[in-house]
Amino acid sequence: MIATDPKIIVALDFPAAKQAMAFVDTVDPSLCRLKIGKELFTTAGPDLVRLLVERGFDVFLDLKFHDIPNTVNKAISAACQLGVWMVNVHALGGREMMLAAREGLAASPGPNQPLLIAVSILTSIDQATLADLGITKSLEQTVTDLTELALDSGLDGMVCSAREVAMLRARFGDQPVLVTPGIRPAGADTQDQQRVMTPRQAVDAGSSYLVIGRPITQHPDPAEQLIAINQSLG
Ligand code: C5P
Repeated sequence: MIATDPKIIVALDFPAAKQAMAFVDTVDPSLCRLKIGKELFTTAGPDLVRLLVERGFDVFLDLKFHDIPNTVNKAISAACQLGVWMVNVHALGGREMMLAAREGLAASPGPNQPLLIAVSILTSIDQATLADLGITKSLEQTVTDLTELALDSGLDGMVCSAREVAMLRARFGDQPVLVTPGIRPAGADTQDQQRVMTPRQAVDAGSSYLVIGRPITQHPDPAEQLIAINQSLG
């Protein structure tokens, strides 16, 4: 079965281009999209992004920009030049920063304009850590408020925990793109993820795209695993 609009975004959490390409050579753009984060981008840089785009993959450049508005505007424009499919910022950068990020997308007008999404509160942050930062609202309220701010600033959606998706769909409807990590196929090792959902559960809850790393990248047959997960999504 070929997914023409794959919901799976494989996290390329590899130390360098060589290991990333050894994996990429085993999979096909019809089965998945790819996410490049800070480690791989720092070692492999824009050349790897361009190579993956040339090979036909949709690339999510997961660099979570958070800086002054002008700097984020230029960084988003630079991401557009690479031809990425999706890029993100921290909602905690504030409205002006997100508006500037949105304006940065003008570097890539038309149908190939990347999706721009925000991170609200990292799932590694708990209520006590928020309190350390002087944020006294509940975690759930903070996530909701930052999501509202991001969508109000013209962003396309959010990275969030699959556990937050139902709440965000109830509040913000079907339109926002919701991208969720913390996914494990039934029976797979949860590794360091605390609260996981299966791909099917996450999609049923309203996830638009699923970020999955090790269950695919460390599988003996990644293409077979991708086909199986795509099939589980119907
Ligand atoms: O290997 P695994 O499926 O756990 O990888 C999940 C990916 O999603 C990693 O790249 C991780 O950094 C990212 N991520 C996450 N939890 C978040 C945000 C991002 O696991 N809250």
